[in-house]
This record gives sequence, C-alpha cells and structure tokens, in this order.
Amino acid sequence: MTPAPKPSLDMSVSVAGIEMKNPVMAASGTFGYGVEFEDVVTLERLGGFVTKGLSREPMPGNPPPRLFETAAGMLNAIGLQNVGVQAFVSEKLPLLRKIKNIVFFCNVFGHTQQEYEEVVRVLNDGEGIAGYELNVSCPNTACGGIAFGTDPRMLSDVVSAVKKIATRPVIVKLSPNVTSIPQMARVAEEAGADAISLVNTFVAMAIDAETRKPRISNVTAGLSGPAIKPIALRMVWEAAKTVKVPVIGIGGIGTAEDVIEFLLAGATAIEVGTVNYWDPCACESLVDSLAKWCLEHRIEKLSSLTGGLQLG
Ligand SMILES: Cc1cc2nc3c(=O)[nH]c(=O)nc-3n(C[C@H](O)[C@H](O)[C@H](O)COP(=O)(O)O)c2cc1C
Repeated sequence: MTPAPKPSLDMSVSVAGIEMKNPVMAASGTFGYGVEFEDVVTLERLGGFVTKGLSREPMPGNPPPRLFETAAGMLNAIGLQNVGVQAFVSEKLPLLRKIKNIVFFCNVFGHTQQEYEEVVRVLNDGEGIAGYELNVSCPNTACGGIAFGTDPRMLSDVVSAVKKIATRPVIVKLSPNVTSIPQMARVAEEAGADAISLVNTFVAMAIDAETRKPRISNVTAGLSGPAIKPIALRMVWEAAKTVKVPVIGIGGIGTAEDVIEFLLAGATAIEVGTVNYWDPCACESLVDSLAKWCLEHRIEKLSSLTGGLQLG
C-alpha cells in the first residue's frame, strides 16, 4: 500500500517585500539585540526578530524599580536603555552577521526628528539588516514632550523624513495611546510607511497600598502582556481595515490560537514580547505549536488566514 501523502504546510509570509519563513517575530525590548538569545533559541527558525530600540547616543535608562508584574500583565519603564546606534553597528551587528539565515529589524527612536534621521543614516551603512521599525511612542523633546505617535502632524513628518533617507523598508510601530488608531494608521501609510506594527505598550501605573508609593520609579509605565491582548486585537483589526500596507500584530501573544486570532483580524505577521520574559524559548516553541495547529486544522497556507474574520 502506498503511504498517504504527507500534508504540506507553507507558513511563509512576506512583509514589505521581506520574505520570512513564518509570521513569528520577537518584539523589540524583549529580545535584546538577538545575539543574547543565540544559546537558547535557534534564531533561524523564527520568522524574524526586532532589536531593542536604538538611539543616537547610548542611554542608561531609568533607575529601578522599572518592572512590575500585574494581573495578567507587566509594567515597564526601562527608559529606552540601549548601547546607542554606533556601538550596535560596531559590536552587535558583526555577531549577528555570523548567524546564517536570520531576518532582523532594527527598532529606531529619537527625541527629535533629526535624531531619528541620524540613527537611520548610521544603520544604512550596516549590512544584513532587513528593515527598520520606528518606535514613535517616544516623546518629542523639541515639541513639549508630546509623543510623536500621538500627534498626526508629528507622525507624518517623522515618517516622511525617515522614508526620504532610509535604504530599507520602514515599519512604523504605532502607539495605542491615541483616540483613533485608524487615523494614525492612515497618516503613517500616507507618509510612506511600508508596513505598520501595533501595538506598543499602554500608559499605566501601579501603587503599593502599604507604602503609598508608586511601584515604578518613573511613576507611569507601559502595560504589556496577556492583559492587553483583546485591546490590541481590536486595534489591529481597525488598522488592517484602513490601510493597504501589511500590518504586524503585537500585544499579549503567547499561543498558536493568539497568532491565528491576529491573522484573522488582518495581521500578516506578529511579534511576541512579554512572554519572552517568562520563557526565553517562547518564540521558537510558538513556531512549533503554530505548525501543529495548522496541520490539525488542515491549513496548507498560513497566509491565507490573514483578514479571514467571519462577520455574521
Ligand atoms: C521591557 C520592555 C521593553 C520594551 N522596549 C521597547 C523598545 O525599545 N522599542 C519598542 O518599540 N517597543 C518596546 N517594547 C514594547 C514591545 O515591543 C511590545 O510592543 C509590547 O510589549 C506589547 O507586546 P507584548 O504584550 O507581547 O509584550 C518593550 C516592551 C517591554 C515589556
């Protein structure tokens, strides 16, 4: 008897012209510069990963306490600690270049539009980077500290300025701390974004009732993890309905079902953040459980699920 043909499964996705083996990416700030995970994760099995946010100058971040676990979530106010773009290019990039078949994006931020441009100019000279992810949740110190991503004009200006000089695709990572996600998604697309990713963390806080002090030295912090998933899912659905460029879903993703829900809402790929803190191998395990889910549900082409939400 001839054996039954093995079911075929294609998990590949394409985001802004970048081909990835599967839609599972590790999110910025939860996966270091990638190299730190090399011993525990087979990096080439991931769809991709995003580096910690890079700024023009190195930044020490905020004083502790800067992490606090909440019900089903995590608060962080790391303060964008990073080695600075020059050290990334001279010290981290050569290590990443030694690892074959990986896809990684550099997360970029600045305190002024010029700083974003300067970081991108430095990265343009580095080799092996698939693209840039702009963190626009950062306050613009030249405009009273309002976050770039919460003001349509500032968002448009920073995205167009970066697009003019970037030699690689630009993903714009939207802030969820806005009234209208469709409006911000449209602004980013019109300014030239090749893809958008959402969501970044939600501004939140926690207080210690005994000491009457904030749990985080910065007082306010960003909420992430399973607690934010339903809100992130709604925002991804709203954004994907609005723009034509690919959407990358982020927020509380930890299981294969979570990934499928984000794809159905319209995402082409997803990023996994906080779960990496509980299990550093979470992204790689997720690739396996996603493949299992697809085989069990007789899905042959994972990308066919994108936008497949059934209404009514
Ligand atoms: C400790 C920590 C640091 C982060 N640093 C960055 C960063 O540097 N740049 C950025 O764009 N997002 C950063 N994020 C946001 C995550 O990339 C992600 O958008 C957010 O945590 C939501 O996903 P999650 O619920 O899966 O964690 C950080 C998140 C955490 C928890």
